[in-house]
Amino acid sequence: MKVIAIAAVGRNGVIGRGSELPWDIPEDMKFFRDSTRGQIVLMGRKTYDSLGKALPARRNAVITRNGSWSVSDAEVYADLSTALNVLKPAALAQEKTVFVIGGAEIYTLSLPFLDEVWLTEIDSDFEGDVFFPLYREGRFEAEGFVRAGVREQSDSASPFHYRFCVYQRSRPK
Ligand SMILES: NC(=O)c1ccc[n+]([C@@H]2O[C@H](COP(=O)([O-])OP(=O)(O)OC[C@H]3O[C@@H](n4cnc5c(N)ncnc54)[C@H](OP(=O)(O)O)[C@@H]3O)[C@@H](O)[C@H]2O)c1
Repeated sequence: MKVIAIAAVGRNGVIGRGSELPWDIPEDMKFFRDSTRGQIVLMGRKTYDSLGKALPARRNAVITRNGSWSVSDAEVYADLSTALNVLKPAALAQEKTVFVIGGAEIYTLSLPFLDEVWLTEIDSDFEGDVFFPLYREGRFEAEGFVRAGVREQSDSASPFHYRFCVYQRSRPK
């Protein structure tokens, strides 16, 4: 059972502009859908709001400090530890992965609990106001993580160049 953060990130660390993604990369959207389908996804309330609804065919969990916030299509938790205390045993029992799907606040909170970080690294700088934690000049530089795998894009029609990277925890949590 793993807890994995998955994100797409610009060279300058940007992951969002307002409530939106600053790019449209269909191959990356497909990678995200294929990776998380059938798994458990955990997100911050703002990311849920930007999606507008739960992702289909996945167990969806949202964290918020607002005790009166609720939706019919996702589980709601008051903090990350409570969420992981419920979701990790469920994932273990069902041989699933817990994917942390953003945004920046939740990626930051989840860093100590992550086994891997899957980043679609885009070779362009973007204007934006939401940043992936510890991402500088085209690389994730969190202590205790190493880049373990890289796959180049296959979609030559995209105006962007990007690669799919896996960072693995190199030391115990
Ligand atoms: N590029 C990518 O792969 C990617 C992926 C996902 C999202 N994004 C982008 O990221 C942006 C959204 O990210 P964000 O950082 O602004 O928001 P976020 O992480 O999605 O959500 C933040 C919210 O989570 C809740 N929260 C945060 N810390 C908490 C804690 N300790 N305990 C309980 N609840 C807590 C709060 O909800 P309440 O305010 O309700 O209390 C907070 O406002 C958007 O631009 C989106 O497009 C990009």
